[in-house]
Amino acid sequence: MATSEPVQESLMLDYPQRSKSSLPSGIALYTDDDEWSTWKKIGDEVLHIELRKWADILVIAPLSANTLAKIAGGLCDNLLTCIVRAWDYSKPLFVAPAMNTLMWNNPFTERHLQTINQLGIILIPPVTKRLACGDYGNGAMAETSQIYTSVRLACKTLPHDSSRSLVIPVSNNQPSS
Ligand SMILES: Cc1cc2nc3c(=O)[nH]c(=O)nc-3n(C[C@H](O)[C@H](O)[C@H](O)COP(=O)(O)O)c2cc1C
Repeated sequence: MATSEPVQESLMLDYPQRSKSSLPSGIALYTDDDEWSTWKKIGDEVLHIELRKWADILVIAPLSANTLAKIAGGLCDNLLTCIVRAWDYSKPLFVAPAMNTLMWNNPFTERHLQTINQLGIILIPPVTKRLACGDYGNGAMAETSQIYTSVRLACKTLPHDSSRSLVIPVSNNQPSS
């Protein structure tokens, strides 16, 4: 599981017990700090490159408007966006956006969605419901069951390798602001 700082903060707010050590065994949580703390000298492994090589599937849930814009523009200023920037698009990359309706309906969102669609990124669209800010509208992250179903379907088409486990970045499951 790779988190950006804002997602990490909301994860800790919602689940304060979720320190790295309290996650279920087999789930590793990587943060931006790990990028530099694991690299000391030329020749050492670089975390985002290792994760990009290791992963069979990438799921970004929730995908903020900010990270959507960064991916569409090719920016890579944290662990997550560096993995995406190095991604091999023959492997599935899913995104489940979550944002306020006003952000979702903004013309920038359409432009960015068109760009990531051209890259082959698979959109799991947001849903309409009461958002964290109290507004009612489209923009809430798809139900986790829907995300799970989409990813499972994609997994069925992948060659099976029992030495690898599937790690899916989880959402804090908050409605969008
Ligand atoms: C309480 C709160 C809730 C937020 N919810 C969202 C959200 O659901 N979607 C979104 O795109 N941005 C939201 N934002 C703004 C993001 O936190 C901000 O754009 C941040 O830079 C996103 O970082 P990321 O791209 O690393 O996720 C929220 C901000 C606050 C303070």
